[in-house]
Amino acid sequence: MKQELMEITAQRLLAPRIYEMTLKGALVEQMEVPGQFLHLRVPQNDLLLRRPISINDINHEEGTCRIIYRVEGDGTRVFSEMKVGDKLDVMGPLGNGFQLSELHAGDTAFIVGGGIGIPPLYELSKQLIAKGVTPVHFLGFASKEVMYYEEEFLALGDTYIATDDGSYGTHGHVGHLLAQMMEQPNAVFSCGANGMLRAVESRYLGKIANVQLSLEARMACGMGACYACVCHLQEDESGQKSVKICDEGPIFPAGKVVL
Ligand SMILES: Cc1cc2nc3c(=O)[nH]c(=O)nc-3n(C[C@H](O)[C@H](O)[C@H](O)COP(=O)(O)OP(=O)(O)OC[C@H]3O[C@@H](n4cnc5c(N)ncnc54)[C@H](O)[C@@H]3O)c2cc1C
Ligand code: FES
Repeated sequence: MKQELMEITAQRLLAPRIYEMTLKGALVEQMEVPGQFLHLRVPQNDLLLRRPISINDINHEEGTCRIIYRVEGDGTRVFSEMKVGDKLDVMGPLGNGFQLSELHAGDTAFIVGGGIGIPPLYELSKQLIAKGVTPVHFLGFASKEVMYYEEEFLALGDTYIATDDGSYGTHGHVGHLLAQMMEQPNAVFSCGANGMLRAVESRYLGKIANVQLSLEARMACGMGACYACVCHLQEDESGQKSVKICDEGPIFPAGKVVL
């Protein structure tokens, strides 16, 4: 993990309130594993806490990485107003990413994402393909209006889309898409709201050994020191044991933590 003032080399609006930002800097050399995140300082003095945002794409040839973020509050609004050439104070890469070591050429992986949990799954899919693994993508959005990256995922493999309001693709959530699949994959990777992660967990836990879920929590330090981001373990009758999402996660095997 390092810290650097990275340069913004591109910023574009993908959908209402959803932006894709490209950052250039030496920090990209440290980025290898999909599913890790960056901790971004908001260049505004009254906003002290950094904002955690997942790495969406790593490009070692160009020395750039991309993030996709949705404007939620003051911090992300400030990011959205920054221009090409501006510098952003970045700490990272942080956290443990997705584990790909148990997958082999010829395997199939289901990639299940919802809303603003979709960005890290793009780099994951690219790296799976580089290993000879076939990804199948299942992406859920609230509506067609806030959908993004359909073309980018289609370029990597089969992509099925669901919208909560039925304005595009299958009507309903991604669980409906998964219910239609007869094929059993070798691994399942998922990132999105806890409700979606619970649906993925209950569908595959005990049936497929390699199910990896990416969690979110409110964070402060982002590196394991402040305990702001703890969640509880499923197999803990005392209810006392916890793990920190920022440095032990954000990726956990299904069945490990209480969602
Ligand atoms: C590991 C991880 C990866 C993430 N990846 C992405 C991503 O790729 N794209 C994206 O749009 N969002 C992502 N998020 C959520 C993102 O961090 C929050 O939307 C963002 O911090 C909100 O900041 P704000 O100042 O705009 O909103 P505010 O609500 O004003 O934020 C106030 C405070 O709460 C914290 N906070 C608010 N919501 C969250 C949240 N969901 N998770 C953690 N801290 C939060 C902020 O860091 C800040 O300290 C991720 C969160 C985590 C934990
Ligand atoms: S955010 Fe401080 S320990 Fe995780």
